[in-house]
This record gives sequence, structure tokens and C-alpha cells, in this order.
Amino acid sequence: MAKTPNIRRKKEMKGIILAGGSATRLYPSTLVTSKQLLPVYDRPMIFYPLNTLIRAGIRDILIIVAPEHSGDFMNLLGALFFNRGVKISFQVQQEPRGLPEAFILGENHIDDDNVALILGDNIFQDDFSSVVRDFRSGGQVFATQVNDPERFGVVKFDRQGKANRIVEKPDSFVSDYAVTGLYLYDSRVVDVAKRLKPSRRGELEIVDLHNWYLRRGELKVKTFKGAWLDAGTHDALLEAGNIVRQNKINENFDPIIVEALAEYCEAHKRRMKRRLG
Ligand code: G1P
Repeated sequence: MAKTPNIRRKKEMKGIILAGGSATRLYPSTLVTSKQLLPVYDRPMIFYPLNTLIRAGIRDILIIVAPEHSGDFMNLLGALFFNRGVKISFQVQQEPRGLPEAFILGENHIDDDNVALILGDNIFQDDFSSVVRDFRSGGQVFATQVNDPERFGVVKFDRQGKANRIVEKPDSFVSDYAVTGLYLYDSRVVDVAKRLKPSRRGELEIVDLHNWYLRRGELKVKTFKGAWLDAGTHDALLEAGNIVRQNKINENFDPIIVEALAEYCEAHKRRMKRRLG
């Protein structure tokens, strides 16, 4: 019998949104629901990272959630993209142990494809679709200049503009380019993440993954200038809403999300009307 030819299928880009954690800095709001479901201007926060992935052509997305809020995520997103070609699945994270854990929890989801991880509270004004679509292998991170680099993983560039060092929350100044919360990796990241040891703060550190690829000359760093927001505190959440509104970031969403949301809201309205008689 003829052997089936070994045709290598083109690698897909899978998506992961990390939306676990308990966000105690946002108490009492996060006693009610997850931080990533709180509103940023006119919609729950999770739609911004979802948009970053969906408009880049990603159609298979795993959302990692905390156990106490998993029902809220499923109610909102479980059937939202039904029949629209976007598959959403959920994975409960019992306790956050650092960002690289997303790749360990997402092992089966990633399979041997590439993966884009985005933090559930990261909002980007820029559209990185072409970078995501052009990604083939190695690692790709996105960096921007900040006033408070000591709060982030920072990347130092050499004279030729090539990244040569990435340091997590440096005590003394290394660079003011922060590595933001969108990361593209090939499937080797799963094994590398599994071998990481917790840092001094007791967590697996994503910079250890960046550096694994950097040492091999396989990490690309794209710098950008558009707004980058996270919403970790009450002030940052309020500011994020204002910047979204000023820059009309909410008006620039992928039609898949716009149409799904419009239909979903209409269906809910009809249901409420029926219930009220
Ligand atoms: C994490 C990463 C850090 C990155 C930041 C982006 O920091 O460890 O490298 O710059 O996200 O938001 P954390 O949120 O754990 O302080």
C-alpha cells in the first residue's frame, strides 16, 4: 500500500487571553466579577484584547480565567461567536503562578502551532495584524517607551537597534522601552515554560522566555508609538476609558465582534421584553 505523503500543514496562529488573577487592587469592583469584565468606556475590557487577536485573523482562542469568575466569562462569550468562525474555549487557572503558566495550561490548545498570548487587561491602539500574520517561528514581542520602566520588563537595544538585553523590573535604569503584554511564540515555548524555575517574587517570569529566544538570536522586538493601556488600578481604569473614548479605539473593531455584539444585545432585549410580557 502506498504510504500517505507527509504533507506539512502550515502552522496556524492560536490565541490565548490570560484573564485569571484576583485583581485585589480593584476591590470592591472585582469582588463582583473579573477585572477583565469591568467596563472600559462602553464595553467589557476583554473585548479589547479579543479584538487584537480576531482582527489579526486568529480564530481559535483560549481564555484562561479564575475559578470564581468562570461563569461570568462563559455567559458573555460562550456562545457569542457561534456560527461566526471564531472558537472560544475556557481553561480555569486555580492560582496564578506567573505569565508563562499560560503556555503550560494551554499546551493542548497550542498543539504544534504558533501562539499569540495577550494579557486580558492590555489595550493597544495600534493594529499589529500584519506582524501576527507574517510570524513564522521564534519569538516576537512589542515594546514602547514609558515613564516608569521599573514597573515592567524592559528591553535594551544596541547601537544598531538590535535588542540585546531584557530585564524584569530593573532596580536601576536599563532602558525605558517596556515589553508590553502581547507575545508571539512558536510551540517550543511550552517546553521552555515547563522548565522555568520561579523567580525571587515566587513566579514564573515571561522575561525568561524572551531571553531563551533572544540568546538563540530568534527574538524580534517591534517598537510602537500608539497608546498602550492596562487597567490595574482605579485610576488606570478610568484613564483607559477616557483614552479609548478620545482616540475612538472602541470604534475601530473587527466586524466579527461588532456584528456578534449587536445581534447578541438585540437577542437579549427581545428575551427581556418577552419576560416582562
Ligand atoms: C508583566 C511582565 C512584564 C511586562 C508586563 C506588561 O508584569 O512580567 O515583563 O512588561 O507584564 O504589562 P506584571 O504585570 O506581572 O507586573
